[in-house]
Amino acid sequence: MCGIVGYIGNKDCVRFLVDGLKRVEYRGYDSAGILIYRKNTAEHFLVKNVGKIIELEKSISSNLSGNIGIAHTRWATHGEPNHKNSHPHVSNDGNIFLVHNGIIENYTSLKKKLEKTGFTFYSETDTEILVNLIQHYYKGDIEKAVKEALLDVKGTYGIGVFCLNEPDKLIAARLGSPLLIGIGKNENYFASDPSSVLKKTSEVVYMQDREIAVITKDSVVHKTLDDELLEKSIEKISFELTDIEKSGYDHFMLKEIFEQPKTITDSMRGRLLLEEGTTKLGGLNEHPEIYNSLINADKIYIVACGTSWHSALIGEYMLEEYAKIPVEVEYASEFRYRDPIITPKTVVIAISQSGETADTLAAIKEAKRKGAVVLGICNVVGSSISKETDAGVYLHAGPEIGVASTKAFTSQVIVLALITIDIARRKHLSFRQGYKIVKELKILPALVESILENSAVIKEIAKKFSSAKNFLYLGRGYNFPVALEGALKLKEISYIHAEGYPAAEMKHGPIALIDENMPVIFIAIKDTIYDKVITNIKEVKARNGVVISIASYGDEEIDLISDYVIKIPDTTNLLSPILTVIPLQLLAYYIAVEKGYNVDMPRNLAKSVTVE
Ligand code: F6R
Repeated sequence: MCGIVGYIGNKDCVRFLVDGLKRVEYRGYDSAGILIYRKNTAEHFLVKNVGKIIELEKSISSNLSGNIGIAHTRWATHGEPNHKNSHPHVSNDGNIFLVHNGIIENYTSLKKKLEKTGFTFYSETDTEILVNLIQHYYKGDIEKAVKEALLDVKGTYGIGVFCLNEPDKLIAARLGSPLLIGIGKNENYFASDPSSVLKKTSEVVYMQDREIAVITKDSVVHKTLDDELLEKSIEKISFELTDIEKSGYDHFMLKEIFEQPKTITDSMRGRLLLEEGTTKLGGLNEHPEIYNSLINADKIYIVACGTSWHSALIGEYMLEEYAKIPVEVEYASEFRYRDPIITPKTVVIAISQSGETADTLAAIKEAKRKGAVVLGICNVVGSSISKETDAGVYLHAGPEIGVASTKAFTSQVIVLALITIDIARRKHLSFRQGYKIVKELKILPALVESILENSAVIKEIAKKFSSAKNFLYLGRGYNFPVALEGALKLKEISYIHAEGYPAAEMKHGPIALIDENMPVIFIAIKDTIYDKVITNIKEVKARNGVVISIASYGDEEIDLISDYVIKIPDTTNLLSPILTVIPLQLLAYYIAVEKGYNVDMPRNLAKSVTVE
């Protein structure tokens, strides 16, 4: 969603700020803006544009330069994307500039209060109210004014503030919206995402909720909103520039699909104990009391959204079959607003790639309020969800930039399998069974590689079906959630309507849709319910449906009853989603490319959904 970048130093910072915004383009936005201050002439320049950053660049004059600046990409929440609603926002007296991510919930009451004291508002945004609230408190000390204003605010924010009267400093503050300080030499930076500063520095300080930072070119002072000085440690950004570049691929999504042999390996690194036929997860073993709550739980809720919710469904099948613990998977947004029954032996697992999804964060808070132990499965190190949970496991899949999640999904499934095996082995799973699964895990990256090598077949099928208006995805057991995920991938990036269903459910309704124009994708690998899926395929063929099957190498029967077949290798049942999802990711990708869409930035979508 929105992105923030700031710079203070001696060098010209226009390029750095624009490039910093470009690094977070993938998160989704609809307008962008920049404020630049030039020290030697004490001039400032405000440039804003609706649309892409490239439009902003066109509006920035070639001789614009300055050594302090704040910049923003906005994803509209309060008011449509237009010039006056774009950030940076400026106070009525023209002295204070603000960029803001998040939502000020009590903006109506704050607005009324400020209007009574003579303030005028020109935009529809909550941000303009905050910048004027800061002006309201400003008596010559911007740090103090920001603190006072933030104490009045209900909601979430990551903010960057610049004050013309005090041009030697920038102020940053956070509550529920990520912000970090980049440490440079004779210059410092702030940003909502580490990728925005990585070209300049890999040393960062992650801000926590209710913290404020006063940033000059030579120093950064961290305090709480209550004025308590903080000693913060400098951390290294956990990825490299090559991880956030396309590295020769046409799109980040394609790069991330093809990276999966590596990311799956990274998610398993140091976590497989083949000799003992089990797994280990540092993030859980380091908290034995919390981990014991999970092992001995009599009920697990898994909360998540979107693709992470699909991996949660696979986790439900795994944990129930192998660890024998009852599991309920909930959309985080629903969990939060209904009244889930939390007993002393209930454990909640939250799954999130970004670690910033507002609905998932709210569900975690609700679960904690009700006394549950909450574990996290996250990709982004140091994210809000990783901080909010009692313990957890990182995916180590590296930054995911394509808006449609791919490599995070397969890593989530891996981590869920690792947790399942460890718990099951502590209970009743035999060494022999555990050993067999761990052995399969070890060869999984090579199996994924072999499917990717076959991508040309999938590209051809994509070409044939890119003009279809509807798709149906069907699977059973562990591959029912994969059917949902395949349909979601297609919808997100190709804007084709697609539905995922348990294959047997088809005859309870969706079968009415089937005709010669309806491609039906079956996940029909040789598992225990293969024969049932074959029956479902025949039902579709009997109604002239077009069948594309994802099937096992060596299966010849399927060739006779399908129109197109994509063959993949076999693995053990709980790991099969990692192999079956790869052709579906590629199919969605190639169809969207065939239709000429911007795969990495699909319309209306944001990479991390930080509003409820
Ligand atoms: C789908 C997709 C979204 C996310 C969802 C949750 O491709 O990317 O559906 O899965 O917004 O995001 P995280 O996992 O970051 O909580």
